[in-house]
Amino acid sequence: MIARYDFAPLDGITKTVFRQVWNDHFGGVDRYFIPFFSPTSEHVMMNRDLKELDRSRNAGLTLVPQVMTKRAEDFLWAIDIVKDLGFTEANLNLGCPSGTVAGKGKGSGFLARPDDLEKFFDEVFSKASLPVSVKTRLGIHESEEFERLLEIYNRYPIHCLTIHPRVQKQFYKGEVHMEAFAKALTASKNPVCYNGDLRTVEEIRAFEEKFPTVEAVMIGRGAIADPALLRKLHGGKAATREELQAFTQTLYHAYTEFYEGQAAQAAQRMKEVWFYLIHLFEGGERIDRKLRRNRNPREYEQLEATIFRELPLLEHPEGELV
Ligand SMILES: Cc1cc2nc3c(=O)[nH]c(=O)nc-3n(C[C@H](O)[C@H](O)[C@H](O)COP(=O)(O)O)c2cc1C
Repeated sequence: MIARYDFAPLDGITKTVFRQVWNDHFGGVDRYFIPFFSPTSEHVMMNRDLKELDRSRNAGLTLVPQVMTKRAEDFLWAIDIVKDLGFTEANLNLGCPSGTVAGKGKGSGFLARPDDLEKFFDEVFSKASLPVSVKTRLGIHESEEFERLLEIYNRYPIHCLTIHPRVQKQFYKGEVHMEAFAKALTASKNPVCYNGDLRTVEEIRAFEEKFPTVEAVMIGRGAIADPALLRKLHGGKAATREELQAFTQTLYHAYTEFYEGQAAQAAQRMKEVWFYLIHLFEGGERIDRKLRRNRNPREYEQLEATIFRELPLLEHPEGELV
């Protein structure tokens, strides 16, 4: 039995409103990772980041903030900020594959410069005022790059090393390198968390059986596509159509309130949730295409009603979640 289940951070989706509503309706994870914020060089917190880090908005939930930067002084500053806000761990994003981010040497882009990463860790781990965890990929081009990276990680007391076993060039598609993950798990001196492509109870159980020494499993898209995934994992029932409808309607209303009545913005957020959730409905592709083209909140509401009225619910999500 794995000690802990973490909800992965998905920028634009698993933010404060989503976390609260998902937790109230389904839940079953131990911790939620907050999508990253990037410290500014002037060391001024942006209002939208402060809003996201406001713990009173997700009272009762265990949250881990994530920071993306390549400068140790900025990371140390961010750690002090999140410590003052009451958090007990700070996570470093070394996984974001976006071209603009990686091009600036941040996120997974930092993995291309192991020597600089080492200097960064030297400074961070000698001064950090909170435990630091890391979320990483295997490298930029190929999984073999991870040998050198793990050598570096092993030199520091990383609170937990979450590994998404893909390289930057793969984004979120294609093979997860399970052999490379197995090697990393054996060779890591720090606790390891696995992340990537787990979306059914059977897949999670099979993973746990194969890798009983992982400290935690992190799940993202799978828990959006099937919001009851963790509940089922803990022996609970699958989501019913009524429950899912109550979940999406509450979420839509919560977004509308968050955006101060701007239904178009709320509908935009909902489309990003439906991008994954539609896979739980048989024959959802046709409506998903319409949802993606849609710009009008009224039409969004009608399309959502059509899904619940017409499409059969599946036992678990089908098709690739990309
Ligand atoms: C739209 C989107 C946004 C993401 N935002 C973040 C982020 O802010 N921080 C991060 O570490 N990973 C981010 N990720 C990666 C996820 O946390 C996770 O590693 C990835 O989805 C693979 O896990 P899964 O197959 O369980 O979803 C994002 C992924 C997607 C698709």
